[in-house]
Amino acid sequence: MPLVTFKVSGTDNCVRIDDLPYVYIRTEAGGSVLAASCPHRGGPLHLGTPDADNRRLVCPWHERGTSLSRLRRLVPAVRTGDTVTAVLPGPADADVELCHLPLSPALAAGA
Ligand code: FES
Repeated sequence: MPLVTFKVSGTDNCVRIDDLPYVYIRTEAGGSVLAASCPHRGGPLHLGTPDADNRRLVCPWHERGTSLSRLRRLVPAVRTGDTVTAVLPGPADADVELCHLPLSPALAAGA
């Protein structure tokens, strides 16, 4: 499992592991790293919006909600200042690439 440190915002705020993107998001419930690809059909979860209870992240493609607590459990991560270190799924020798993905205002601005 790759251990990767990357930025929580701006350039290099995304890590691709074998082409699957991960980003750091902030909601009123706190920050976390999650796969930016919706489990339904791969929609852009990084552009999603938390529901009114901050329990589910609603995908912009088909408006299905995915449990934020389930997403958080999949990727252990610790934030330190402007960076976050995460244990990402995949083999230790997976292709790792830093990149940038925009976040929805709700995920970039949260608490
Ligand atoms: S791709 Fe996200 S709800 Fe369908």
